[in-house]
Amino acid sequence: MFEIEVVLSPALLHLAEVKNRNVVVIDILRATSTICTAIHEGAIAVRAVESIDEAIILKNHGYVIAGERNGHKIEGFDMGNSPFECMKGALTNKKLALTTTNGTKCITAAMTAGASNVIAGSFLNIDATCEWLKTDGRPVVVLCAGWKDKVNLEDSLYAGALAKKLLNNEPNALDCDSTHMVLDLYEKAASNIGEYLVKSSHYQRLSHLHHQEDMEYCLSENIFTTVVGQKNVEMLKIN
Ligand code: MLT
Repeated sequence: MFEIEVVLSPALLHLAEVKNRNVVVIDILRATSTICTAIHEGAIAVRAVESIDEAIILKNHGYVIAGERNGHKIEGFDMGNSPFECMKGALTNKKLALTTTNGTKCITAAMTAGASNVIAGSFLNIDATCEWLKTDGRPVVVLCAGWKDKVNLEDSLYAGALAKKLLNNEPNALDCDSTHMVLDLYEKAASNIGEYLVKSSHYQRLSHLHHQEDMEYCLSENIFTTVVGQKNVEMLKIN
């Protein structure tokens, strides 16, 4: 029986046991999907940073810098937070520093809290990530980035999808109500996640900013098998 705890918001992270556990950070729309894409597309590493100033310092050390605030590209940065900007050789053999409204803060929080490994979660590589976690065998904390400490639907749904795969359909032995909750949510939405998410606040926000294509891409399942996790302070390919 796999031990798994879902943390629905970063504001609840302090309540979870993180040490000696693998933490999967999820910001499906779009930060962790973009990080996985960047590594899959040939970036050497992605450094998740909290502030704009930290990213600017890294630019002086040769990093490409990318980021958004409230969905808008940061002025003066090389890239925003669209996974498509990481494609077509844009990051081949380069290092990327990324700062986003929610996702990158969760990655640094999980690192600081002493996780054994911090993994970037995405639908794009969900099966490969699940296999990696099963092989490693440590208990898993699934940390949903949400929106400014509030719970959101898309990260909760991914948590449900991952929990279902990790538990091999054996949820009854679970001692974690948030995991039961996301499993039930996933059951309700699984047949058409894209349609289910139309009502979600970030889906609406990104629609208004014309990021429809990004969302369709981020909700695609298993289009690559690259697993992305932390080594020291960077995220890179770990399988
Ligand atoms: C975040 O970190 O809040 C997101 O990735 C926002 C976005 O969609 O760019």
